Amino acid sequence: MEDSAVMTSPLRKPFIAGNWKMHLTLAESLALAKEVRSGCGQNGPDVALCVPFTAITVVAGAVQGSSVLVGGQDLHWEAQGAFTGEVSARQLADAGCRTVVIGHSERRRCFGETDETVNKKLKAALGAGLVPIVCVGETLDEREAQKTYRVIETQVRGAFAGFSPAELGTVVVAYEPVWAIGTGKTAAPAQAQDSHTFIRKLVARAIDEKLAAGMRILYGGSVKADNIDSLMAEPDLDGALVGGESLKAANFVRIIQFKTQAGMERKA
Ligand code: PGA
Repeated sequence: MEDSAVMTSPLRKPFIAGNWKMHLTLAESLALAKEVRSGCGQNGPDVALCVPFTAITVVAGAVQGSSVLVGGQDLHWEAQGAFTGEVSARQLADAGCRTVVIGHSERRRCFGETDETVNKKLKAALGAGLVPIVCVGETLDEREAQKTYRVIETQVRGAFAGFSPAELGTVVVAYEPVWAIGTGKTAAPAQAQDSHTFIRKLVARAIDEKLAAGMRILYGGSVKADNIDSLMAEPDLDGALVGGESLKAANFVRIIQFKTQAGMERKA
């Protein structure tokens, strides 16, 4: 691994996104969104709740007027048409979304998402003014076979193919090692930092240095209230994509409040 991190940028405001996956009824969604809203201070990180399609309007209503944003967990790349079961970027934005997760490993593994579809979805999301959260990350087999960098590089290059640096200005990357998702096995902070540095340097080399310096790279995979501070202490971690713990209001709020801990001081 190459040495130090690419310089940090003041543009990299910390960003904590919850990924509710396929959980919660509307009543439960409403209650959780209200608790998150009341737990978010004025000067904290950017916060988003990426919720099931059915809950978008309810959650958007609950967080309206606050700093909490609502996001989708997937989208279709076409603007509209005969695509039964799919939802477009415009529909997400219209329902109240400001952000959307693209290429989550569960979608890659269970629903055949490829780097090519990620690329098309990224274009659609940007076209609708959504902030895309593009997920990349290696499986355990790939890590053990020393293929981590190669896998990440293929995913990042595939997602960003054909875009100019200016077009990618709002894009957020989430590094989520598949072996850490929902397993309770968080990557060690130094391990996460290593991959984040790799991604930042790759974007600098392959696309644009300024873009790379300002790009927010989130870590995801068993992020919890008791490990967020040490993760955020790493210079190239700009936030987190949180699954299981985002369903527990108090824990998620504590994750958002990492700023009160040593980790946030690096951003000051
Ligand atoms: P986890 O999920 O926090 O439950 O590991 C993270 C994710 O899938 O985004």
